[in-house]
Amino acid sequence: MIDHPSINNFLADGFGLRQQLAQFLNIDLGTLDQRLPKSTAKLAELHPGAFSAVAGALEQEVERFYEQEVGAGHLYELCAWHLRSAPYIADTLRVQSLIATGQHLDFGGGIGSHAIAAAQLPHVDQVWMVDLNGWNRNFVNERAQSLGLSHKLHCVRDLSAPELPEKFDSLVCLDVLEHLPDPAEQLRIFANKLKPTTGSALFNWYFFKGFNWEYPFHFDGPEIVEDFFKTLQDLYLEKFHPYLITARLYSMR
Ligand SMILES: C[S@@+](CC[C@H](N)C(=O)[O-])C[C@H]1O[C@@H](n2cnc3c(N)ncnc32)[C@H](O)[C@@H]1O
Repeated sequence: MIDHPSINNFLADGFGLRQQLAQFLNIDLGTLDQRLPKSTAKLAELHPGAFSAVAGALEQEVERFYEQEVGAGHLYELCAWHLRSAPYIADTLRVQSLIATGQHLDFGGGIGSHAIAAAQLPHVDQVWMVDLNGWNRNFVNERAQSLGLSHKLHCVRDLSAPELPEKFDSLVCLDVLEHLPDPAEQLRIFANKLKPTTGSALFNWYFFKGFNWEYPFHFDGPEIVEDFFKTLQDLYLEKFHPYLITARLYSMR
């Protein structure tokens, strides 16, 4: 299979990622390059260690963390990761290109590498990137504009935004499910948002806080994880793809 040109563009420089982020944050490239290697540790420092809320309030506490506490933290962290692990991210873009079509949803899109790549695919009509973090949405809007993709790429805070289509042809949710207090419920919401017979989804997850506690914000409770896998296996049917990565493709059962 020949790669879509967007894959090579991503591998070249992450779609101009460093320059765009430096410009967006109004810092020079040298300052950005010094900050990038520390970005995971800085993000971990922001986290309270454990969410302390009683049942029911947990969701709000987690939302507040991603919407208000993280600030530009994810921009640095995701920029460093996408540049450092470009071949891995490129593989996720290749898998995405197997399913992305029509009305395409990127849930928790971060710095927008996947949304930008999807918007370059001719069989994708519109890309809808959902992200709680306003810094991320503003950055991706700016990137889309500079790449001439604003007519196809739109950012919204959550799935209740009125401009979203009722159903999606395809969706990706990469490196997000472990950030949610109830990832099984998110799978149910996605199942309801996908077109029933033709819709496809791309998911990955990492329910682990890291060998050195690098990811204190990841949920890893055994009950949460068990509920997630039961729901996944109830609702979705896995489809084979040839890329050797942890991202999994699904249709609805
Ligand atoms: C680790 S990043 C992954 C970003 C991107 N998908 C990628 O693979 O690079 C997780 C993203 O999920 C977003 N997020 C966390 N909770 C969310 C929620 N409840 N709704 C929407 N976005 C959320 C964060 O703001 C962050 O951008």
